[in-house]
Amino acid sequence: MDATKPFLTDIAELRRRARQHIEAGAVTGGYRGDRETVIKLLNEALATEIVCVLRYRRHYFMAQGIHAEPIAAEFLTHATEEQVHADQLAGRIVQLGGEPNFNPEGLLMRSHSEYVEGETLIDMIKEDLVAERVAIDSYTEMIRYIGDNDFTTRRMLEGILAVEEEHADDMASFLADLDEDWKAKRS
Ligand SMILES: [Fe+2]
Ligand SMILES: [Fe+2]
Repeated sequence: MDATKPFLTDIAELRRRARQHIEAGAVTGGYRGDRETVIKLLNEALATEIVCVLRYRRHYFMAQGIHAEPIAAEFLTHATEEQVHADQLAGRIVQLGGEPNFNPEGLLMRSHSEYVEGETLIDMIKEDLVAERVAIDSYTEMIRYIGDNDFTTRRMLEGILAVEEEHADDMASFLADLDEDWKAKRS
């Protein structure tokens, strides 16, 4: 092995490879992921995010009662952040040569989380917390699956996961303030 170049591919070889299959855009021969599977997973995550946008927006408009104002504001913030995630996922799907699935038909089937309206403010917060916990688990699994085969997708998913954890924490804090059963469970 040449000690001056411990691991890098020869520059001429890199240039030659980059010229091959230029129609594949950002996806080069060095891409190690199973592209079809990654795109499928990202589309499921996209559906999940869209369902979360819809649920949080519904909760924003329906939140009522004396405690509602700051919580409604948080629902709206989360809805906006879920939309950002949806856009990141759609963008990456296109970069990988796929098509983002925005079809409303089958949306709930593709989504990992559910769309539950909830009657009371506490119901809404609980449903949002459940949905966040689902998202946390599914993003964690996706990140483990991708491993070191697709660094860009993985970094994006890790960023989204961190935000979902914050979302879950926000919902848990509201429950700690509002819900007597929650207080009893935690003490
Ligand atoms: Fe999200
Ligand atoms: Fe979230």
